[in-house]
Amino acid sequence: MNEKKCEAVLEKYKEEKGSIISILQDVQEAFGYVPEDIVFWFSEKLNIPASNFFGVVTFYAQFYLKPRGKNLITACCGTACHVKGAEPIINRMRADLAIAEGENTTADGKFTLENVACVGACSIAPVLIINKKVYGSMTADNASRMLREYEKSSHR
Ligand code: FES
Repeated sequence: MNEKKCEAVLEKYKEEKGSIISILQDVQEAFGYVPEDIVFWFSEKLNIPASNFFGVVTFYAQFYLKPRGKNLITACCGTACHVKGAEPIINRMRADLAIAEGENTTADGKFTLENVACVGACSIAPVLIINKKVYGSMTADNASRMLREYEKSSHR
């Protein structure tokens, strides 16, 4: 745990009540996610139950309790994408990336694969978003090829 980073955040919010969201935003900014031990650290320092922090973390999709991969893949699982074969694409990517059951990030931290509901691009379903770039009319083969490209560019 990086106590210096935490102290800096604490200093900023010590006097403020109801600043849980702001603290969590700063923690995530500093660490890239919200580490559990840091939640407990703040809970103790501010005398706020850790459950209050975790309640906020789990309520808002913007917070992550686990580190995310360098490359972020968002697979749309809305109705149009589902009907047009999102599931086999997702299964293929999970297999290609060897993402363990119950996880969504590769063991080497290079990729995180998340599922979301409709991203509003149904006319080009099935849709993938990789590092904020939208790809439509995906197939499992195309997705697989693209992963290899991203894998290569991660080495550069
Ligand atoms: S269902 Fe995938 S973009 Fe709408």
